[in-house]
Amino acid sequence: MDSANKIAGEGINTADTVSPPGPRGGLILGVMPEFNRDSLAFITRCRDYGDVVRARFFYVTTYFLYSPDHIEYILATNARNFIKSMSLRTNFFQRLVGNGLLTSEGDFWKRQRRLAQPAFHRQRINAYAAVMVEYTERLLTTWNAGETRDVHRDMMRLTLEIVVKTLFNAEISGDADRVGRILGELVKPFASQATVSWILNNRFPTPAHFRFHRRVAEIDEIIFRIISERRASGRDEGDLLSMLLQAQDEDGSQMDDRQLRDEVMTLFLAGHETTALTLSWIWYLLGCHPEIEQRLVAEVAQVIGDRPATAADLPRLKFAEQIAKEALRLYPPAHAVGRQAIEACKIGGFTLPAGAQIFAFQWVTHRDPRYFDAPDEFRPDRWTEAFERSLPKYAYFPFGGGPRACIGNSFAMMEILLVLATIVRRFHLEPIQDHPVEILPAMSLRPKHGVKVRLEAR
Ligand code: HEM
Repeated sequence: MDSANKIAGEGINTADTVSPPGPRGGLILGVMPEFNRDSLAFITRCRDYGDVVRARFFYVTTYFLYSPDHIEYILATNARNFIKSMSLRTNFFQRLVGNGLLTSEGDFWKRQRRLAQPAFHRQRINAYAAVMVEYTERLLTTWNAGETRDVHRDMMRLTLEIVVKTLFNAEISGDADRVGRILGELVKPFASQATVSWILNNRFPTPAHFRFHRRVAEIDEIIFRIISERRASGRDEGDLLSMLLQAQDEDGSQMDDRQLRDEVMTLFLAGHETTALTLSWIWYLLGCHPEIEQRLVAEVAQVIGDRPATAADLPRLKFAEQIAKEALRLYPPAHAVGRQAIEACKIGGFTLPAGAQIFAFQWVTHRDPRYFDAPDEFRPDRWTEAFERSLPKYAYFPFGGGPRACIGNSFAMMEILLVLATIVRRFHLEPIQDHPVEILPAMSLRPKHGVKVRLEAR
């Protein structure tokens, strides 16, 4: 017997197991053209084949998981057998976030996560609330009743400034638009992940390549400036950057500027667009559901009144939280998670080989009628405690799960609620009727043309 086919410890022979069902696709490119035509519709259609589905992209065979139990298996219960999928190891992504928290693996990742974790502890996060509210108020001073704005753009800028101020105690107001614009452009190459160039790992230099590297270098410059200013000042600001700068291995060695840069860039990227997107989708959903917006306004008036919102208000903003959860269900900014099996594994009665590329889709599972009534409807009221208790754990996983779950989960929820409460009592955001709101499943789930609204003072 071919020993490569034998699963360590389990004694399963992969040679005599049946492959999961799935779409056949074309002879050469497999399902790639179909996927590229409309990826969200494609991954939703694939669920009809079963809970474990096989789909070939060019020469890469992938496996899609649709059952919460199986998703839990790869993310949590058997997480040790999985690393991030190869889609996170492209040259593009490496150049962007290098070996930061999102992409690193093994003991190195564990150490970095341990170092970063204190910056995300509940008490610590509570201290960020004032910045979140103050920066939102500052944004509102630039808003005028009657004007039309792309609120998605505003949210992108706001969340970027907040992440930079809270985690790195730096101001980038002057650079925020530039950094935001560049980051937005940089993730465009991921917009259609299953292109041939993605599969080929972007090995061939093209003009787009050079442009990409030039743009990354521009953000690098800003990040290296923040790092060198902090090193020069020698001050302990008590923030994440200080913690990372001071962290030492047992042998006394410290992180070099390159590693620091990777962590900072990772947090820039992971920590701002996702939160901005959630807020943008919330504004869009509230615009379509004025009765829900009215109930939110009433809750905010009752809980907070006229004073600035604080972290202490959050437990009482129950309806706001239901709205956020429902928005994250319908428009999960991270709409897919991917893993690669280290050793072969058995999932749903199928044996997936070592090296298998495995994906779970928040987009599909969050709208699965087996777990959600009227799955396409915006119904914040569904989020009762009883409903949450009855829901299989991984039927809803906007922040992933297991050891690699989002480190910024509480940070993001707090930011979403505080920004929402601060804005909603001052302005009503009326959607512009003829402005199309289309979903662009880039690296995250974006509104393709932004979210255009007309501001109305309350
Ligand atoms: C609504 C907002 C957010 C969503 C939906 C979200 C979603 C996710 C998801 C799904 C993962 C897991 C990816 C995987 O398993 O492969 C993740 C990881 C991560 N997120 Fe978030 N995130 C959000 C906000 C934030 C914020 C505010 C920060 C930081 C300030 C952040 C930093 C990170 C980091 C560093 C990781 C990697 C953690 C690790 O592997 O140890 N995220 N996020």
